[in-house]
Amino acid sequence: MRLYLLLFLAVVNGGISTYRPWEDSPCQMVNMEAFCQNKGLHQVPWALPPKTERLYLSKNQLQNLTSIPLTYYTMTKDLDLSSNQISFIQPGIFRDMKKLQFINLSENFLDRLARLNDTGIGPLPNAKFLDLSSNSLQSGMAEYFLQDAPLLEHLSLSGNSIMMISQKLFLGTPALVQLDLHNNVIMDIEEGAFEHLTQLLNLDLSMNSITCISDFSLRTLQTLDLSQNSIETFHTTESKDEFKLSQIDLMFHQQSSTIVWLRCQLRDYSVGTMYIYLTKVLVYIGLQE
Ligand SMILES: *[C@@H]1O[C@H](CO)[C@@H](O)[C@H](O)[C@H]1NC(C)=O
Ligand SMILES: *[C@@H]1O[C@H](CO)[C@@H](O)[C@H](O)[C@H]1NC(C)=O
Ligand SMILES: *[C@@H]1O[C@H](CO)[C@@H](O)[C@H](O)[C@H]1NC(C)=O
Repeated sequence: MRLYLLLFLAVVNGGISTYRPWEDSPCQMVNMEAFCQNKGLHQVPWALPPKTERLYLSKNQLQNLTSIPLTYYTMTKDLDLSSNQISFIQPGIFRDMKKLQFINLSENFLDRLARLNDTGIGPLPNAKFLDLSSNSLQSGMAEYFLQDAPLLEHLSLSGNSIMMISQKLFLGTPALVQLDLHNNVIMDIEEGAFEHLTQLLNLDLSMNSITCISDFSLRTLQTLDLSQNSIETFHTTESKDEFKLSQIDLMFHQQSSTIVWLRCQLRDYSVGTMYIYLTKVLVYIGLQE
């Protein structure tokens, strides 16, 4: 009887020590990266190694992102959820994923989520990159994802349907360095919407419906892309402070008229020359006397 029990235990132990559930999973593991793209998955797979650092789940059929099993992967730094059908994210789900720096949610149905629930997805404590492009987000919806992302440096909201940038939109993302708003329908930017983004270097507002930039005062900005808008006026605030802008692009559609190159310098701009591409000569930009 004793012998039988011992034997039984030994068999069980042997089984546990060699069983690796991820060997049955649909994902290919290479080091601590899980390649799960394009596998027809409806849910985040359960049986990946707990130390998985990169989880690539694009081009599946995920709809609902719930904390189980996702928060089980606490070592994950990089989470690619692009090109799914995600329309629900459990609030607070990213709070416990302390290592998570890169989140790609491009090409999902996040507009549905924002429509259903007004509480927000909760904090993104360590996220540095967030891609929310191509989600049919309208004005007031992006706020839902950006309430508390203190370390976020790179944000894409391109390819959405945002008409208005509210003063509150970027209050929860004070560390932004690069902001991509390309290809929306922005007509209106509330005063002060970008002013507290003191680290912002690159702002892409191309392919929108902006006609007028008044009192431009983003002194830390290095590149500003306003091409493919209908800019008629652009002027800066009067101040002695330097601008850091080295590139500003105001080009319209190439076919609409000939492109005039203006070579001007911003007031007190000491580093070099700024090139402005225009289709109409219409800009007051504080030319140096
Ligand atoms: C996602 O959640 C919705 C609403 O709770 C539910 O109707 C739907 O079946 C869920 N989808 C999946 C794939 O679990
Ligand atoms: C996010 O995923 C989309 C679609 O797969 C891809 O085009 C995009 O480059 C990704 N974003 C980043 C920041 O890598
Ligand atoms: C939004 O989600 C929270 C947390 O899950 C829930 O308590 C709240 O009732 C939801 N609100 C709506 C309008 O569905």
